[in-house]
Amino acid sequence: MSQPLSPEREQRRAAIREALREVKNLPTLPGIISKLTKMVDDPDITTDQMGKLISKDHILAAKLLKLANSAFYGFPQRISSLSSAIILLGFNVIKILIISASIFELMEDQDVELWEHSLGCAVVCSVLAKHLEISDPEEVSTAGLIHDLGKVAIKMELPKESETITALVGSRGISRFTAEHELLGLDHAEVGGWLAKSWNLPVKLVEPIAWHHNPAGASSEPMAAAIVHFADIIIRGLGYGHGRDIWVPTLQSKAWELLRLRPTDLDKILENVEEKLWDVKGFSLEIKMEAGGVGSTSPGRG
Ligand SMILES: [Fe+2]
Ligand SMILES: [Fe+2]
Repeated sequence: MSQPLSPEREQRRAAIREALREVKNLPTLPGIISKLTKMVDDPDITTDQMGKLISKDHILAAKLLKLANSAFYGFPQRISSLSSAIILLGFNVIKILIISASIFELMEDQDVELWEHSLGCAVVCSVLAKHLEISDPEEVSTAGLIHDLGKVAIKMELPKESETITALVGSRGISRFTAEHELLGLDHAEVGGWLAKSWNLPVKLVEPIAWHHNPAGASSEPMAAAIVHFADIIIRGLGYGHGRDIWVPTLQSKAWELLRLRPTDLDKILENVEEKLWDVKGFSLEIKMEAGGVGSTSPGRG
């Protein structure tokens, strides 16, 4: 975190940052996102125009509908078409859903266990955000969905280092976060934050991703960062999916103060989460079957 680094460490960190900055192997977000971002900002844009743009990409459109109907967003009505999705959810939520669908695709190809952990985290974020009456619960869920994006980036861009980190976690019994710091001088939260920023994602997503292990560091979205931080801990504690880690992260006292939850709130939240996780499990399995790659995702891998 903020302890001073030796000059060698600092150098190594800069080199890694440079390597990751190029993100050669990482797909950039589809062009549709930047077009959509412009559309969202244009007051004259119609639902039809937006629907037409999204439907050009059939797979993305289908994923978006599936995501919109999945448990972690928890919209009250069934959403059956793109146009009704746009009318019901609004442009901003649609944009968030497209970002999720695109990043998700990247994650499900890479690491299904991590992907499941991310889905679970999004469910908890959604329940927490609604309980705390946050104004944009979908954004917080999305941040939960992609909070460990940096792990995917490290794995893709620095595969050897990523293997060493996994080995360190196993042999020394340390957290992945600590192992990343030891080997790289940085961690996946920081990497995820850079990446989200380089994709021009809104700060409401960038901050909770970048600070999900240290929400006290978030300057403009501390609440969203605290929610993702706590959701990450809850979902790991429940043993749902895993983040390529052996430890449940430690709860930061500042985050806990910010959330102001009482034990009775926690009971209610957990009950709600368990219920929703059932639906998500179904969603997750469905995607796995569609991908046809269940065999390539055994937990023993990487
Ligand atoms: Fe993490
Ligand atoms: Fe995580």
